[in-house]
Amino acid sequence: MTTDTTGTVARDGESRPGGPADSPFIRACRRRPGPHTPVWFMRQAGRSLPEYREIRATVPMLESCRRPELVTEITLQPVRRHGVDAAILFSDIVVPVAAAGVDLDIVPGTGPVVAEPIRTAADVERIRPITRDDVWYVDEAVRQLVVELGDTPLIGFAGAPFTLASYLVEGGPSRTHAKTKALMYGDEELWHALCGRLAEVTLAFLRVQIDAGVSAVQLFDSWAGALSEADYRRFVLPHSTAVLSGLVDAGVPRIHFGVGTAELLGAMGEAGADVVGVDWRTPLDVATGRIGPDKAVQGNLDPCVLLAPWPVVEAEVRRILEQGGAAPGHVFNLGHGVLPETDPDVLTRVVALVHELSSRRADQG
Ligand code: CP3
Repeated sequence: MTTDTTGTVARDGESRPGGPADSPFIRACRRRPGPHTPVWFMRQAGRSLPEYREIRATVPMLESCRRPELVTEITLQPVRRHGVDAAILFSDIVVPVAAAGVDLDIVPGTGPVVAEPIRTAADVERIRPITRDDVWYVDEAVRQLVVELGDTPLIGFAGAPFTLASYLVEGGPSRTHAKTKALMYGDEELWHALCGRLAEVTLAFLRVQIDAGVSAVQLFDSWAGALSEADYRRFVLPHSTAVLSGLVDAGVPRIHFGVGTAELLGAMGEAGADVVGVDWRTPLDVATGRIGPDKAVQGNLDPCVLLAPWPVVEAEVRRILEQGGAAPGHVFNLGHGVLPETDPDVLTRVVALVHELSSRRADQG
């Protein structure tokens, strides 16, 4: 074990100069200065890339997540093409839940669909704890990727208990999360049993990825914005905290992200994140005021802006870099995932622009 200048414990071999721990991305997560503002995109590996569509033409989504050679190839595609500052593991938030014994599939154009939605204590009991052997393909893919990526950090991820619970209770994607909230308000004990079980699965899944060598993790609570702050604190925060605080000793930065979370940004930071992801609705300087000076921010270009003419994209990138400067660390990203209809060349240009503008600012002191 080694200790860096911020007193953070790094794992052996990770803090060598030029290694992933010294990369612009990890430096920004740790609120340390770097050569430029790092940039990556949620869903950078996916349908915006023709090379991804070619692989997926013959392989169903969940199968592609369970074949290490495909996970490795798809994860590397956007790194090669765009020169992003970090790779994100190609997988899905439902992969560990399926490994825990829940019968589900990812349906094209719809998302995760659960055969028998969870409604009772007996249903919760069916969600088994997972070990490395249940997700061996993720362990293997991460180990291959760490070698292939060299100095570029790999981000591991998992879904947070609320967002996972929503898919499991609804049986599929939902606009209102009505069945999820009915269970939450109607049977608090069952709700906490379900989220407690999901937190265990999530923590185990992230541990497998960290043990295999990821340099950071992101906990996606995509649908937490459906809740008031009071309900978030009562029904969700304890479980997300169990996951994030369970990784304190792991020595890798933890990013926590949700959509529509303007009212929740402070609470999401309290869950134990080093970096809070912000969607496009809240300017980053305002977000920083809510999150506090001891955390970095990530975001927050509206993915739809990428469909606009280049001068619009450029102006928005400049604005976001400017407002991100108010935070003690800024990782440039979108406010949510890349839309499938995005022109990948625009993403490549955004990476170059973020690097160019932020390096110039550093030169100017
Ligand atoms: O590049 C990356 O960001 C890594 C890959 C990644 C995927 N899913 C691949 C994927 C990540 C990080 C996820 C997380 C995920 N999955 C979340 C949290 C992030 C978010 O978007 O808020 C959620 C809510 C899911 C559930 C899910 N899986 C949805 C809503 C969908 C889209 C369904 C559709 O077809 O529109 C999926 C499928 C999925 N996961 C795809 C990809 C690339 C598309 C599947 C395909 O290519 O056919």
